[in-house]
Amino acid sequence: MSDEAVKYARNKSQKTRTTIALLVSSFLNLPFKHKTIGFVFDFGCFHHVEVENRASFIRGVNNVLKTEGMYLMVCFSYKNGPAWNHFRKDKLEELFGEYFDIKWIKHISSVEGDKVTRYFYEILMENR
Ligand SMILES: C[S@@+](CC[C@H](N)C(=O)[O-])C[C@H]1O[C@@H](n2cnc3c(N)ncnc32)[C@H](O)[C@@H]1O
Repeated sequence: MSDEAVKYARNKSQKTRTTIALLVSSFLNLPFKHKTIGFVFDFGCFHHVEVENRASFIRGVNNVLKTEGMYLMVCFSYKNGPAWNHFRKDKLEELFGEYFDIKWIKHISSVEGDKVTRYFYEILMENR
C-alpha cells in the first residue's frame, strides 16, 4: 500500500469511527509474525508480483496465516487477453495448491470506473 492509500483509509475509518491498524510495507516482506493472521484479503495485488517473486509472495502469505486461516485473492483472468499476469484457472491451482486448499474459484466480470469490462478470478483458499 502507498502512504496516500493509507491516508485515505485513515480518513475513512475516522469518519465511520472504525478502529483499524494501518501500515505501509512491501507485500514481499510482510511485517507479521509466523501464523498470526486469520484472514488475508488480496484485491489486485498478486497479479502485480513479478514472475520471479511469485513463489516468495505465496510463501509469505502461507507463513503469516494461521493454519486453517483464509486467503481471499482477486486477480486478472486470461479473458482480458494474453499478458504475463492474466491467469488461467489451472495456473492458479498450480501456484497456490502447494500451500493452500482451494475452496472455490469463481470467474467474474466487473465494469470498472473507466467503463471497461474486466475479468477476474476470485479464489478462496484455506491455509495448510
Ligand atoms: C491494483 S492495485 C490494488 C490496490 C488495492 N488492493 C485496492 O483494491 O484498491 C495494486 C496495488 O499494489 C501495490 N503494490 C505494488 N507493488 C507492491 C509491493 N511490492 N508491496 C506492496 N504493495 C505493492 C500498488 O501500489 C497498488 O496500490
